[in-house]
Amino acid sequence: MARPSNETPDFADRVARLPWLGLGISTEFGAAAQGLDSLALAHERPDLIEFLEVGADLERGVDDTTRAWVADGRPTTYHFLDVNLEESEDVSEEWCRDTAELAGRIGARWLCGDAGLWHVGARDLGHGTLVPPVLEPESATEMATSVRRMRKWTGMEVVPENPPAHVFVGRMHLADYYANVAEQADCGLLIDVSHLAIYQLVHGYDALHAIECLPADRIVEMHLAGGRRFEFKQRTFVDDDHGCDILDESWALLDALLPRAVNLKAVVFECERNPREQVLPLFERLRARLDRSFPGCSGVSTRNPA
Ligand SMILES: [Fe+2]
Repeated sequence: MARPSNETPDFADRVARLPWLGLGISTEFGAAAQGLDSLALAHERPDLIEFLEVGADLERGVDDTTRAWVADGRPTTYHFLDVNLEESEDVSEEWCRDTAELAGRIGARWLCGDAGLWHVGARDLGHGTLVPPVLEPESATEMATSVRRMRKWTGMEVVPENPPAHVFVGRMHLADYYANVAEQADCGLLIDVSHLAIYQLVHGYDALHAIECLPADRIVEMHLAGGRRFEFKQRTFVDDDHGCDILDESWALLDALLPRAVNLKAVVFECERNPREQVLPLFERLRARLDRSFPGCSGVSTRNPA
Protein backbone atom coordinates (compact mmCIF):
# COMPACT_ATOMS: atom_id res chain seq x y z
CA MET A 1 0.00 0.00 0.00
CA ALA A 2 1.29 3.49 -0.84
CA ARG A 3 2.39 5.56 2.13
CA PRO A 4 0.35 8.77 2.72
CA SER A 5 2.49 11.73 1.66
CA ASN A 6 2.32 13.46 5.06
CA GLU A 7 3.60 10.42 6.96
CA THR A 8 7.13 10.64 8.38
CA PRO A 9 9.50 8.28 6.56
CA ASP A 10 10.29 5.24 8.66
CA PHE A 11 13.72 3.78 9.35
CA ALA A 12 13.68 1.52 6.29
CA ASP A 13 13.04 4.53 4.02
CA ARG A 14 15.55 6.76 5.77
CA VAL A 15 18.37 4.24 5.91
CA ALA A 16 17.96 3.48 2.22
CA ARG A 17 18.82 7.13 1.55
CA LEU A 18 21.94 7.19 3.74
CA PRO A 19 25.16 6.97 1.73
CA TRP A 20 27.59 4.08 1.94
CA LEU A 21 30.72 5.42 3.68
CA GLY A 22 32.73 2.25 4.01
CA LEU A 23 35.84 2.17 6.16
CA GLY A 24 36.64 5.14 8.39
CA ILE A 25 39.08 6.42 10.95
CA SER A 26 38.20 8.36 14.10
CA THR A 27 39.50 11.65 15.43
CA GLU A 28 38.88 13.97 18.36
CA PHE A 29 39.95 17.54 18.95
CA GLY A 30 43.76 17.69 19.10
CA ALA A 31 44.25 13.92 18.65
CA ALA A 32 46.41 14.27 15.54
CA ALA A 33 49.16 15.92 17.59
CA GLN A 34 49.66 12.59 19.38
CA GLY A 35 49.32 10.17 16.54
CA LEU A 36 48.19 9.77 12.99
CA ASP A 37 47.85 12.22 10.14
CA SER A 38 44.54 10.80 8.92
CA LEU A 39 44.48 12.88 5.73
CA ALA A 40 47.99 11.79 4.73
CA LEU A 41 46.98 8.20 5.43
CA ALA A 42 43.84 8.57 3.31
CA HIS A 43 45.95 9.89 0.42
CA GLU A 44 48.41 7.04 0.85
CA ARG A 45 45.77 4.32 1.20
CA PRO A 46 42.44 5.49 -0.25
CA ASP A 47 41.41 1.84 -0.33
CA LEU A 48 41.56 1.70 3.47
CA ILE A 49 40.58 5.15 4.77
CA GLU A 50 37.36 6.40 3.17
CA PHE A 51 35.85 8.75 5.74
CA LEU A 52 36.56 10.53 9.03
CA GLU A 53 34.44 10.19 12.15
CA VAL A 54 34.79 13.47 14.03
CA GLY A 55 34.38 13.29 17.79
CA ALA A 56 33.28 16.80 18.75
CA ASP A 57 31.59 19.01 21.28
CA LEU A 58 30.27 22.52 20.94
CA GLU A 59 32.78 23.98 23.40
CA ARG A 60 35.82 23.08 21.32
CA GLY A 61 34.35 22.77 17.83
CA VAL A 62 36.59 21.06 15.30
CA ASP A 63 40.34 21.29 14.89
CA ASP A 64 42.66 21.88 11.91
CA THR A 65 42.85 18.16 11.13
CA THR A 66 39.13 18.01 10.53
CA ARG A 67 39.10 21.30 8.64
CA ALA A 68 41.86 20.01 6.32
CA TRP A 69 39.95 16.76 5.76
CA VAL A 70 36.77 18.66 4.84
CA ALA A 71 38.67 21.09 2.61
CA ASP A 72 39.96 18.05 0.73
CA GLY A 73 36.34 17.16 -0.11
CA ARG A 74 36.17 13.96 1.93
CA PRO A 75 33.15 12.58 3.82
CA THR A 76 32.63 12.71 7.59
CA THR A 77 30.27 11.68 10.36
CA TYR A 78 29.73 13.71 13.55
CA HIS A 79 30.23 11.84 16.86
CA PHE A 80 28.86 13.97 19.71
CA LEU A 81 30.71 14.05 23.03
CA ASP A 82 28.52 16.47 24.96
CA VAL A 83 24.91 15.38 25.15
CA ASN A 84 23.01 13.05 27.46
CA LEU A 85 20.77 10.84 25.38
CA GLU A 86 19.46 9.22 28.53
CA GLU A 87 18.19 12.58 29.75
CA SER A 88 15.80 14.00 27.15
CA GLU A 89 15.73 17.49 28.68
CA ASP A 90 19.47 17.74 27.91
CA VAL A 91 18.66 17.50 24.20
CA SER A 92 17.65 21.13 23.88
CA GLU A 93 16.55 22.90 20.73
CA GLU A 94 19.55 25.21 21.09
CA TRP A 95 22.06 22.33 21.34
CA CYS A 96 20.45 20.63 18.33
CA ARG A 97 20.54 23.82 16.27
CA ASP A 98 24.21 24.52 17.05
CA THR A 99 25.27 20.90 16.56
CA ALA A 100 23.44 20.65 13.23
CA GLU A 101 25.20 23.83 12.16
CA LEU A 102 28.65 22.47 13.10
CA ALA A 103 27.91 19.04 11.62
CA GLY A 104 26.67 20.74 8.45
CA ARG A 105 29.87 22.76 8.20
CA ILE A 106 31.94 19.56 8.10
CA GLY A 107 29.50 17.83 5.76
CA ALA A 108 28.63 15.12 8.27
CA ARG A 109 26.36 12.44 6.79
CA TRP A 110 24.76 11.63 10.17
CA LEU A 111 25.07 12.14 13.93
CA CYS A 112 26.17 9.37 16.25
CA GLY A 113 27.66 8.95 19.68
CA ASP A 114 27.77 7.00 22.90
CA ALA A 115 24.27 6.92 24.34
CA GLY A 116 24.31 7.52 28.07
CA LEU A 117 25.40 10.52 30.13
CA TRP A 118 28.33 12.65 28.96
CA HIS A 119 27.99 15.05 31.88
CA VAL A 120 26.36 15.12 35.30
CA GLY A 121 24.56 18.32 36.13
CA ALA A 122 25.16 21.32 33.91
CA ARG A 123 27.18 20.86 30.72
CA ASP A 124 30.64 22.33 31.19
CA LEU A 125 34.09 22.16 29.64
CA GLY A 126 36.11 19.42 31.24
CA HIS A 127 33.16 17.06 31.53
CA GLY A 128 33.10 14.14 29.18
CA THR A 129 33.18 11.29 31.66
CA LEU A 130 30.86 8.85 30.04
CA VAL A 131 28.32 7.09 32.26
CA PRO A 132 26.31 4.22 30.75
CA PRO A 133 22.51 4.26 30.94
CA VAL A 134 20.48 2.44 33.56
CA LEU A 135 19.39 -0.72 31.75
CA GLU A 136 15.67 -0.48 32.52
CA PRO A 137 12.68 0.00 30.19
CA GLU A 138 11.98 3.52 31.54
CA SER A 139 15.49 4.59 30.55
CA ALA A 140 15.15 3.06 27.07
CA THR A 141 11.92 5.04 26.59
CA GLU A 142 13.63 8.23 27.72
CA MET A 143 16.52 7.62 25.32
CA ALA A 144 14.13 6.95 22.45
CA THR A 145 12.44 10.30 23.19
CA SER A 146 15.87 11.98 23.00
CA VAL A 147 16.70 10.34 19.68
CA ARG A 148 13.39 11.38 18.13
CA ARG A 149 13.81 14.90 19.45
CA MET A 150 17.37 15.21 18.15
CA ARG A 151 16.39 13.82 14.75
CA LYS A 152 13.54 16.32 14.49
CA TRP A 153 15.49 19.36 15.64
CA THR A 154 18.70 18.65 13.73
CA GLY A 155 17.06 17.26 10.60
CA MET A 156 19.76 14.56 10.61
CA GLU A 157 19.77 10.84 11.19
CA VAL A 158 20.78 10.05 14.80
CA VAL A 159 22.50 6.75 15.56
CA PRO A 160 23.04 5.88 19.25
CA GLU A 161 26.09 3.82 20.27
CA ASN A 162 26.49 1.29 23.09
CA PRO A 163 29.01 2.89 25.46
CA PRO A 164 31.94 1.19 27.25
CA ALA A 165 31.67 0.25 30.94
CA HIS A 166 32.36 -2.57 33.36
CA VAL A 167 29.51 -1.84 35.73
CA PHE A 168 25.92 -1.40 34.63
CA VAL A 169 22.83 -0.84 36.75
CA GLY A 170 19.52 -2.35 35.67
CA ARG A 171 17.93 -5.66 34.77
CA MET A 172 18.05 -5.59 30.98
CA HIS A 173 20.82 -7.05 28.86
CA LEU A 174 22.71 -4.31 27.01
CA ALA A 175 21.64 -5.73 23.63
CA ASP A 176 17.97 -5.85 24.69
CA TYR A 177 18.19 -2.28 25.93
CA TYR A 178 19.49 -0.87 22.60
CA ALA A 179 17.10 -3.07 20.61
CA ASN A 180 14.32 -1.48 22.66
CA VAL A 181 15.67 2.04 22.02
CA ALA A 182 15.88 1.36 18.27
CA GLU A 183 12.33 0.04 18.19
CA GLN A 184 10.82 2.94 20.12
CA ALA A 185 12.85 5.65 18.36
CA ASP A 186 12.59 3.91 14.97
CA CYS A 187 16.30 4.54 14.57
CA GLY A 188 19.46 2.77 13.52
CA LEU A 189 22.20 1.65 15.89
CA LEU A 190 25.94 2.08 16.12
CA ILE A 191 27.29 -1.15 17.59
CA ASP A 192 30.77 -0.82 19.02
CA VAL A 193 31.81 -4.47 18.97
CA SER A 194 34.73 -3.77 21.32
CA HIS A 195 32.43 -2.19 23.91
CA LEU A 196 30.04 -5.10 23.49
CA ALA A 197 32.86 -7.62 23.89
CA ILE A 198 33.86 -5.93 27.18
CA TYR A 199 30.27 -6.08 28.42
CA GLN A 200 30.02 -9.78 27.54
CA LEU A 201 33.37 -10.62 29.13
CA VAL A 202 32.85 -8.87 32.46
CA HIS A 203 29.35 -10.29 32.78
CA GLY A 204 30.60 -13.82 32.13
CA TYR A 205 28.68 -14.29 28.87
CA ASP A 206 29.95 -15.91 25.73
CA ALA A 207 30.86 -13.09 23.33
CA LEU A 208 28.43 -14.17 20.64
CA HIS A 209 25.41 -14.73 22.84
CA ALA A 210 24.60 -10.99 22.54
CA ILE A 211 23.97 -11.11 18.81
CA GLU A 212 20.77 -13.10 19.18
CA CYS A 213 19.20 -10.10 20.94
CA LEU A 214 20.46 -7.44 18.52
CA PRO A 215 18.25 -6.40 15.60
CA ALA A 216 21.03 -6.65 13.00
CA ASP A 217 18.99 -4.85 10.36
CA ARG A 218 19.09 -1.72 12.58
CA ILE A 219 22.89 -1.56 12.52
CA VAL A 220 24.02 1.44 10.47
CA GLU A 221 27.57 1.68 11.75
CA MET A 222 30.07 -0.45 13.67
CA HIS A 223 33.16 0.46 15.67
CA LEU A 224 36.24 -1.61 16.38
CA ALA A 225 38.98 -0.57 18.84
CA GLY A 226 41.79 -2.09 20.83
CA GLY A 227 41.44 -3.16 24.45
CA ARG A 228 43.84 -4.38 27.14
CA ARG A 229 42.82 -7.24 29.42
CA PHE A 230 43.82 -7.00 33.10
CA GLU A 231 43.07 -8.87 36.31
CA PHE A 232 41.83 -7.44 39.60
CA LYS A 233 40.86 -9.62 42.56
CA GLN A 234 40.65 -12.71 40.33
CA ARG A 235 38.32 -10.97 37.91
CA THR A 236 39.08 -10.00 34.33
CA PHE A 237 38.52 -6.45 33.13
CA VAL A 238 39.35 -4.73 29.85
CA ASP A 239 40.77 -1.26 29.47
CA ASP A 240 39.12 0.25 26.38
CA ASP A 241 42.45 1.87 25.50
CA HIS A 242 41.92 2.24 21.73
CA GLY A 243 45.34 0.71 21.09
CA CYS A 244 46.11 -1.84 18.40
CA ASP A 245 45.55 -5.06 20.35
CA ILE A 246 42.07 -6.16 19.35
CA LEU A 247 40.35 -8.72 21.55
CA ASP A 248 39.53 -12.00 19.80
CA GLU A 249 35.99 -11.52 21.07
CA SER A 250 35.71 -8.19 19.24
CA TRP A 251 36.75 -9.78 15.94
CA ALA A 252 34.31 -12.63 16.57
CA LEU A 253 31.44 -10.20 17.13
CA LEU A 254 32.37 -8.23 14.04
CA ASP A 255 32.54 -11.40 11.93
CA ALA A 256 29.18 -12.57 13.22
CA LEU A 257 27.41 -9.24 12.72
CA LEU A 258 28.80 -8.12 9.35
CA PRO A 259 26.90 -10.66 7.21
CA ARG A 260 23.68 -9.93 9.15
CA ALA A 261 23.95 -6.12 9.06
CA VAL A 262 22.09 -5.60 5.80
CA ASN A 263 21.71 -1.84 6.37
CA LEU A 264 25.31 -1.22 7.39
CA LYS A 265 26.85 1.94 5.94
CA ALA A 266 30.14 2.36 7.79
CA VAL A 267 32.81 0.73 9.95
CA VAL A 268 35.22 2.83 12.01
CA PHE A 269 38.53 1.68 13.41
CA GLU A 270 39.09 3.94 16.43
CA CYS A 271 42.84 4.25 16.41
CA GLU A 272 43.86 7.89 15.97
CA ARG A 273 46.54 7.87 18.68
CA ASN A 274 48.55 4.97 17.26
CA PRO A 275 51.47 4.73 14.82
CA ARG A 276 50.77 4.33 11.13
CA GLU A 277 52.66 1.04 10.79
CA GLN A 278 50.53 -0.55 13.51
CA VAL A 279 47.13 0.58 12.26
CA LEU A 280 47.56 -0.22 8.55
CA PRO A 281 47.58 -4.03 8.93
CA LEU A 282 44.42 -3.78 11.01
CA PHE A 283 42.71 -1.61 8.41
CA GLU A 284 43.70 -4.25 5.84
CA ARG A 285 42.05 -6.97 7.92
CA LEU A 286 38.92 -4.83 8.15
CA ARG A 287 38.96 -4.13 4.40
CA ALA A 288 39.05 -7.86 3.65
CA ARG A 289 36.09 -8.49 5.95
CA LEU A 290 34.06 -5.61 4.55
CA ASP A 291 34.76 -6.69 0.96
CA ARG A 292 33.62 -10.21 1.82
CA SER A 293 30.26 -9.06 3.22
CA PHE A 294 29.72 -6.08 0.90
CA PRO A 295 31.43 -6.90 -2.41
CA GLY A 296 31.69 -4.00 -4.83
CA CYS A 297 31.34 -1.29 -2.15
CA SER A 298 35.02 -0.45 -1.81
CA GLY A 299 35.68 3.13 -2.91
CA VAL A 300 31.98 3.96 -3.30
CA SER A 301 32.06 6.67 -0.58
CA THR A 302 34.28 8.92 -2.68
CA ARG A 303 31.66 8.82 -5.43
CA ASN A 304 28.77 9.74 -3.09
CA PRO A 305 27.43 13.25 -3.57
CA ALA A 306 28.10 15.57 -0.58
FE1 LIG B 1 33.03 3.56 19.67
